[in-house]
Amino acid sequence: MDFDVKDQGLAGKGLLRIEWAAQSMPVLRSIKERFAVEKPLKGVRMAACLHVTTETATLAQTLKSGGAEVCICASNPLSTQDDVAASLVVNDGIPVFAIKGEDKDTYYRHIHAALASLPQITMDDGADLVTTLHSERKELLPGILGGTEETTTGVIRLRSMAEKGVLQYPIIAVNDADTKHLFDNRYGTGQSTLDGIIRSTNRLLAGSNFVVSGYGWCGRGVAMRASGMGARVIVTEIDPLRALEAVMDGYQVMTMAAAAPLGDFFCTLTGDIHVLRKEHFEAMRDGAIVCNSGHFNVEIDLDSLSQMAVNRREMRDFVEEFTLPNGRHLYVLGEGRLINLAAAEGHPSSVMDMSFANQALCSEHMVRHAASLKNQVYRVPTVIDREIAKLKLASMGIPVDVLTDEQEKYLHSWEMGT
Ligand code: ADE
Repeated sequence: MDFDVKDQGLAGKGLLRIEWAAQSMPVLRSIKERFAVEKPLKGVRMAACLHVTTETATLAQTLKSGGAEVCICASNPLSTQDDVAASLVVNDGIPVFAIKGEDKDTYYRHIHAALASLPQITMDDGADLVTTLHSERKELLPGILGGTEETTTGVIRLRSMAEKGVLQYPIIAVNDADTKHLFDNRYGTGQSTLDGIIRSTNRLLAGSNFVVSGYGWCGRGVAMRASGMGARVIVTEIDPLRALEAVMDGYQVMTMAAAAPLGDFFCTLTGDIHVLRKEHFEAMRDGAIVCNSGHFNVEIDLDSLSQMAVNRREMRDFVEEFTLPNGRHLYVLGEGRLINLAAAEGHPSSVMDMSFANQALCSEHMVRHAASLKNQVYRVPTVIDREIAKLKLASMGIPVDVLTDEQEKYLHSWEMGT
């Protein structure tokens, strides 16, 4: 078996951490048990380009239980948990191509290695696997049944491919399921982003000015949790509706130009490029901490910051100091890569339980229905979304009310009014 991981000797540690994560993933566990009996993915070759974490390992084991032949590569150069990668290889016999801190060439070599497994289903997080397949391994396209996409940024890229007529097979946008983005993007990113900031800096949030750029589901989660830690949250947005929502959620909303001289912490979650750039760095306070929790490391213009800097030092793991000509120091966390996975462990398992239950069930759906689907980006079927919500509630021991016959009838009637 071909693979590329940092150190197989880490497998023992990875095994225990995977078991720890799996304990908080009851929905995925129930799917795994059914998959083991029904084998809905029997013999299907799958290439998964995901953050290689304990939760991803649990998903990979679930797919393997369903009969799939899974091959994994990293979806980000800094997010791999090397012990998990080792355990998947050693204890599960799953080929993994991922090393934390890999350079860009290695990152793409790993994507190519996963494609060399001749996948029939792709599972992507950010769409680098799919775009590499469509640009550099086009000859593999006829063998692909379909794919799934985990994240907002990836879905945006894939919709753009579909609109331009480039996309050559159907994709299910797992991100758009309610049981995914309402929980993973909001509560997962909220907690894990603060975890990454706190682990890397050990700075106090209480009483600080915390600037959140982008008020999508991820931004909402980070703002909520930073506020809960006692920070004064400032939101920057380009969308008037979202800006209005942030105002009514109780935050200060202003332009980045206005926020730059105020912030103690800056966190970008917009999915767009150069949200923090030269004019903002020039205005920031001495000691300002800058990080990104969006998918790609494009939100902070690090090239400009590097050009401006008169000195650079690594202060501690994942914290780099840039000294500016005005004598001020700015601190960039995790090379501007998603801080929740670079400096922490990503979203907690219990929220990834729902995201990855969507991945597992959408893979099954894709294998069953690919032939009747067009080369488009599809929503997660509502039955899957609702089933996952039901299973999650059941796993929490939380029953919910059911409609009485009278209520059911009322909801379908139009006659009764004032
Ligand atoms: N994305 C965010 N958190 C994650 C995690 N824990 N595992 C895999 N992908 C993630």
